[in-house]
Amino acid sequence: MTNRILLTGATGYIGTHTWLALHEAGFEVLGVDNFANSSPRVLDRLAHLLGQRPQFEQLDVTDTPALTALLQQRPVQAAVHFAAFKAVGESTQQPLAYYRNNLSGLVSVCEALRATDCRRLVFSSSATVYGDPATLPIREDAPTSSTNPYGATKLIGEQILRDLGAADPAWQTGCLRYFNPVGAHASGLIGEDPRGTPNNLMPYVAQVAVGRRDRLQVFGNDYPTPDGTGVRDYIHVVDLAEGHVAALRRLLAQAGSFTVNLGTGQGYSVLDLVRAYETASGRAVPHEIVPRRPGDVAACYADPQRAAELLGWQAQHGLARMCEDSWRWQRLNPQGFDSPMPS
Ligand SMILES: NC(=O)c1ccc[n+]([C@@H]2O[C@H](COP(=O)([O-])OP(=O)(O)OC[C@H]3O[C@@H](n4cnc5c(N)ncnc54)[C@H](O)[C@@H]3O)[C@@H](O)[C@H]2O)c1
Repeated sequence: MTNRILLTGATGYIGTHTWLALHEAGFEVLGVDNFANSSPRVLDRLAHLLGQRPQFEQLDVTDTPALTALLQQRPVQAAVHFAAFKAVGESTQQPLAYYRNNLSGLVSVCEALRATDCRRLVFSSSATVYGDPATLPIREDAPTSSTNPYGATKLIGEQILRDLGAADPAWQTGCLRYFNPVGAHASGLIGEDPRGTPNNLMPYVAQVAVGRRDRLQVFGNDYPTPDGTGVRDYIHVVDLAEGHVAALRRLLAQAGSFTVNLGTGQGYSVLDLVRAYETASGRAVPHEIVPRRPGDVAACYADPQRAAELLGWQAQHGLARMCEDSWRWQRLNPQGFDSPMPS
């Protein structure tokens, strides 16, 4: 049997790190992406790190015939489905684009897998499905809700996979609810390369530290948290990638489906992160407090127990390491993947 794994959204931030982790774990990876939010230059960096040309096809996952034809030529034993749009704010402006890409994409990937007799899928879900959590840390059985179209696509995506499993128990799916992925590969060759203004805190802080942006705006310091700023569960992207390896191993080893949190269980405030970044970079990160942003929750962090029990996985890296690795990536690649490859 092949040990090939399909990665959709393979040249994106989490996809590239997972590609390396799967390769190191002995899997063969077939990557697909349409470069909607990534650069073809990523493939040169991957080739360097893998020591071989990546197996890759430029393809839109909503194109079911093209994806099916690819899988007929190169069958896989499971898929990890990252391909999706992910900007919450943009999703409120362009809901149809989000529903089309994220939901049609998921349905299309499932159809192409089924057509080639593969029924194993790992799905990128998100802690956003917990809405404004009533209790902390958040367990997987906490109530779910969505406050924007992006979050709705993750909730509906999970529902699609439950319905599929109910209709055909041969399907095995793993829904992974990520908390806040940050950091970069220790090589400094791959990392998060946001287009335009970063939507997430750490890439924004990184760009302030490197001098690309003047200052950070901290949205609110009057939340019921230890220092008044929002608290999140930051998880190193390399730990997150290892979580996918563990999820695939579980699906390949035993029947059944699961939904797990991938987080550290530790919450850090915006100011904790700013201070840790200043230490890691040796640079000041000027910041100012501005009013709260609508839709932000005070605090959100995982109960990571189920992932430990079910997958034998837990995060290894702390906040200092996340900042050091982010800073190395930022410093060596001030223009992201448009920078020359560091030697
Ligand atoms: N980064 C986060 O903070 C975060 C948190 C929770 C969940 N997620 C989810 O994890 C997944 C990966 O996120 P990421 O941070 O790596 O995002 P990313 O934008 O860096 O990667 C997604 C990749 O998918 C590709 N893509 C999008 N639509 C496609 C399509 N129709 N066909 C082929 N390729 C397509 C993009 O070009 C991009 O390379 C997404 O599903 C995202 O919603 C991300």
